[in-house]
Amino acid sequence: MTSGMQTAFYVVAAILFILALGGLSNPETARRGNAYGITGMALALIATIFMGDQVHGGGYTWLAAAMIIGSGIGLFLAIKVQMTEMPELVAMLHSFVGMAAVLVGFAGYFGPAEDPAHALTGAASIIHEIEIYIGVLIGAITFTGSVVAFGKLKGIITSKPLMLPARHWLNLGLGLASIFLATIFVGGEHSNAAITALVIMTLIAFVFGVHMVMAIGGADMPVVVSMLNSYSGWAAAATGFMLNNGLLIVTGALVGSSGAILSYIMCRAMNRKFLAVIAGGFGTAGGTVAPSGDGEQQEYSPETSADETAEMLNNAKEVVIVPGYGMAVAQAQHTINDISRKLRAKDINVRFAIHPVAGRMPGHMNVLLAEAKVPYDIVLEMDEINEDLPKVDVVLVIGANDIVNPSALDDPNSPIAGMPVLEVWNASSVVVMKRGRGVGYAGVDNPLFFRDNTRMLYGDAKASVDAILGNI
Ligand code: TAP
Repeated sequence: MTSGMQTAFYVVAAILFILALGGLSNPETARRGNAYGITGMALALIATIFMGDQVHGGGYTWLAAAMIIGSGIGLFLAIKVQMTEMPELVAMLHSFVGMAAVLVGFAGYFGPAEDPAHALTGAASIIHEIEIYIGVLIGAITFTGSVVAFGKLKGIITSKPLMLPARHWLNLGLGLASIFLATIFVGGEHSNAAITALVIMTLIAFVFGVHMVMAIGGADMPVVVSMLNSYSGWAAAATGFMLNNGLLIVTGALVGSSGAILSYIMCRAMNRKFLAVIAGGFGTAGGTVAPSGDGEQQEYSPETSADETAEMLNNAKEVVIVPGYGMAVAQAQHTINDISRKLRAKDINVRFAIHPVAGRMPGHMNVLLAEAKVPYDIVLEMDEINEDLPKVDVVLVIGANDIVNPSALDDPNSPIAGMPVLEVWNASSVVVMKRGRGVGYAGVDNPLFFRDNTRMLYGDAKASVDAILGNI
């Protein structure tokens, strides 16, 4: 088939990717969005493999072997991975995109000499070298940055920010060195100096990726996840330029820009400036417990039981459920939906309140509630529900911690100071379900657990909600 046919397939695939992004912006259309994305990717693969001059002869054997191994690993991971491990998996996948850009860059530079009739000369050759340099640079930063993010999300690396002395100078130095090396590489025509410049820049970019994400504290991880998503898109776009593949450029740009928009939304949700996130250092200290002022006690709030909680719910008119990371760990969403259905059948107004960074990935709680078939119209965003909370009788906090921490608003010294939170303490009573006295992701203590209108329901969230359901 002709490459004209390939272009036609690429255009259709690009349109499907745009429709996929549109679909993914709303839980009700997300499934359709996924179907568009899968179809687009299938068309893109078919067009690339069978319709152009990219693969020929023995290349098909190598490609088939790589695809069988790759799909096997992908399938295994998709089946095995727990929903709570999804962010780590995504971080790992971003690192692959980064490494691919580095390898494609090196392969493009050192690969076999081109057919002299099509060899690049003059300005075209310079542009190609710039593409390689930028592609390798972004790819290397994305690779090591994503590996460190994987380690931080998995808890292998501490979530505390690494604050090297003069770290901004270090970053500036690495950036200037990369620019200087670019002047040696571009136009260097495979000289030893040019090759050395490329290799040194790659090592610098690896170090920069590690340093950048190591300096970012636990509380800023949501922004890091979406930022690396964006970087991986730009790395893919750079790979598209290196391979002269229009679809890869379009797809990379879509991922890069949507990741950038998501980073902006995450920053807004956490009341942070993007540059301040990159500069690092947020969420440094271990946090404070500041049980002072009206309505707060020096001791943990009293314990309650599932029976008592069920009775509180039965007697309430307005109930709000706040799911957090612990609900995802316990997989309690289905029982929670059953509880909400039973209560609504008794004419009790039940709503769910979602914090933008609840859980460990953007939209984590929305996905779990959608899976449990909670109706979308009773799932509200933080901004929509906060002002109603003083009129609420009972708030059930299920495995959430940082997103309901009053010190974010009250304590300017708190590592999460300034982050908007769900102001659940304004309700008449709050029941917090958690296993013990563990801190949340940001590692900060939570004065909510000391308030006099808070009751603690200890135990695995699934066991607790099962017991509550039995008593309603
Ligand atoms: P967290 O603050 O992480 O708190 C979760 C709480 O759930 C813990 O205090 C834990 O206490 C409890 N828990 C864990 N397993 C449980 C189980 N099986 N049953 C009952 N409770 C359980 O969660 P959050 O409030 O959802 O806040 C999210 C945090 O993650 C924020 O700091 C956010 O910045 C960060 N983060 C978010 C993202 C995105 S994009 N959403 C990405 C990376 C990081 P016990 O140990 O005492 O049970």
